[in-house]
Formats: sequence, structure tokens, C-alpha cells
Amino acid sequence: MKLAFIGYGNVGRALARLLRQKRREFPFTITGIHTLRHGTAVDPAGLSHSQLEAPHFGPRMTSIDEFLDAACADIAVELTTLDPSHGEPAISHIRAAFARRMHVATANKGPIAHAYAALRDEAARAGLGFRFESAVMDGAPVFNLWNHCLPGVKVLGFTGVLNSTSKVVIDTMERGGSFEDGLAAARAMGITEADGAFDVEGWDSAAKTAALANVLMDAGTTPQQVSTRGITRLTPARLQEMARQGKTVRLISRGRRTRSGVSLRVRAEVLDRCDILAATPGTSNLILFHTDLMGTFGTVSIEPGVEQTAYGVFSDLVNLGQFRVAKPEG
Ligand SMILES: NC(=O)c1ccc[n+]([C@@H]2O[C@H](COP(=O)([O-])OP(=O)(O)OC[C@H]3O[C@@H](n4cnc5c(N)ncnc54)[C@H](OP(=O)(O)O)[C@@H]3O)[C@@H](O)[C@H]2O)c1
Repeated sequence: MKLAFIGYGNVGRALARLLRQKRREFPFTITGIHTLRHGTAVDPAGLSHSQLEAPHFGPRMTSIDEFLDAACADIAVELTTLDPSHGEPAISHIRAAFARRMHVATANKGPIAHAYAALRDEAARAGLGFRFESAVMDGAPVFNLWNHCLPGVKVLGFTGVLNSTSKVVIDTMERGGSFEDGLAAARAMGITEADGAFDVEGWDSAAKTAALANVLMDAGTTPQQVSTRGITRLTPARLQEMARQGKTVRLISRGRRTRSGVSLRVRAEVLDRCDILAATPGTSNLILFHTDLMGTFGTVSIEPGVEQTAYGVFSDLVNLGQFRVAKPEG
């Protein structure tokens, strides 16, 4: 199957490496890469390994339509920068792909947070696949879990630690570093948004909270409707004082059904260090689902990096490609 990459930053490059690693079992071909500042590379026969490792981009094609027409792909892989306020231009990229009868996989939570129901319905009407596993908790199964494993279960609410960058910033300040040291450490790991303020001011968490509510609770909401406060008022001195009392802070996303719809919020909450929401190390993420038939259960991802985000997109591609996974012999 042929893939057109829209965006080739941390996630796009990690995904290209993963596709190469698994190319014998899953023979995908990347036929085009389109970026914002670096230009465009297209070869309908497939870009070579050296071209993917160190792309020699030509001039940027003038529109997403021109790029998708030239790349002649089966699946558009949308990996552009998050815009938490509108979800664009990713939403338009996805619609341009649907218009060319391409399936779409994306790690960008913006479209799911702003236009999930419309995009889901457009894909369904066109008989196309639309996947976004990495939009929340990277490759750890969240949406796939609900698609495949929990028939009849209703989500009543969720509680999550969903933003890795804020965890790295808090850990750094607890060890005596500055807020900026923590942000720089997270950026070096390739896990921050292009604008790190989106992470620490809570917008990344708000987008994930809206995306979860839209997909799992049919909320029809946006990040602006999530009551959001980030971690920017925390200081090393305050965190170290809390640590001496056995406490820490986590940026927590909470969603719950109410009589009038859903209530959604993101807050920096003070927790005991042994609280399940506080206990995981480093970049780790965790989500608990509160349900009617399954009580409360959850998914945890210990110290995920950009490779795990790439894996989530890879799992989407495999599902869209409907490849059969070879069973071990014997
Ligand atoms: N990094 C993570 O750990 C992680 C985890 C989960 C989800 N995500 C999501 O995955 C997506 C990609 O993240 P990333 O870390 O790879 O971001 P990134 O390193 O900042 O890369 C973004 C890429 O998108 C391109 N781009 C931006 N606007 C574009 C436009 N209008 N048209 C075409 N290309 C455009 C950029 O082009 P240039 O190269 O020319 O600048 C760049 O190649 C984001 O939506 C993010 O929220 C990331």
C-alpha cells in the first residue's frame, strides 16, 4: 500500500524508521512527503531509503491537492503540527484525502478534538477508513480498545495523566531544575508540541480530553469547552516543599457524563506520591475509564517516546491495510 506523508517531523521520521524495520511483514511504500518549510518530495514508485533518511526536498507544492494528486497514495498519513484552537490545516488535509478516496491515519488530535463526528461520517459515507490511535496516549490502545474489546460497555467518565511534557517539567523542578530546563529536556526527547506552551498551559491535554469525549462519549465538544488550567504557576520551591510532604502534582484530565451532557476539565492537581495517578515515572501516561459494565479499569504506558507514537500510527496503517499478521508456525 502506498502512503503519502503530510508532515515529516519527529513522528513522521520515527514512523519511516519503523516501516523500514517491518517492511518484510508489512510492505508499505512511501510515495510522497509534504512539509511546511522543507518542501515536498514525491516518487509514485516509492521514495528510497536514503531519501527517507535524509530527504532532498524539491520546492514545496503549492497546495495539498497538488501533493496528494502527485503522490498517488492509498493512505494519507497526517502528521502536521497541532493547532488546538481550530484543528487546521489538518482537518482540510484529511478532507482533501477523502476527496481522492484515500484512507487517513493521523496522530494529530486537533481534528478529533474539533471535527470528529463530521470526519467520521464523511469517511463512512465514502467507504473509507479514518484512524487516530496515537492522538491520545501514543501507541497504547485507547480507541482500538473500545473498537474491538468492549462491546456494550458505556463510558461514564475518564481520568487521565495524558501530557508527558508537563510530567518531565514537574520532575525536573522537583530535582531543583528550572521550568525552562524541564521544557528543554522534554523538547530534546521529541515529545513536546512545536509550541511547548500548548503542553504546559494545558492545551494539549484539553485537546486530548475533547478528543476522548468526542469519540467515547459522543460529546460534540472542542478544546475551548474544556475548563483548562496548566502548570505554569508551579515553581521549583513549591514542588520541593510538596515533595518533602510526600506530595506531587500531575496535570489531570477529567471527563464525566452529567444530566446536561459532559463535564470536562484539565487541572494541575496535588496528589499523594503513592496515588495511582502520580506513581508512574518520567513521561508515563495513564488513563482510567469509569464505565457501566466494567467498573473502573485503565491503560498505562511506561515512559513512552516518539517511537510509541509512531507505533500507534503504524497500527492504524496495518488496520487500514487489512494485512493478515502471520502466525508463528508449529
Ligand atoms: N511527538 C510526539 O511525541 C507526539 C505524540 C502524540 C501525537 N503527536 C502529534 O503528532 C503530530 C506531529 O508531531 P511531531 O512531533 O512530529 O511534530 P513536528 O516535529 O513539529 O513536525 C511537524 C511536521 O509537520 C509539518 N507541517 C506543519 N504544518 C504543515 C502544513 N501546513 N503543511 C504541510 N506540512 C506541515 C512540518 O513541516 P517542516 O518540517 O517544514 O516544519 C513538520 O514536518 C502533531 O499533531 C502532534 O500533536 C506527537
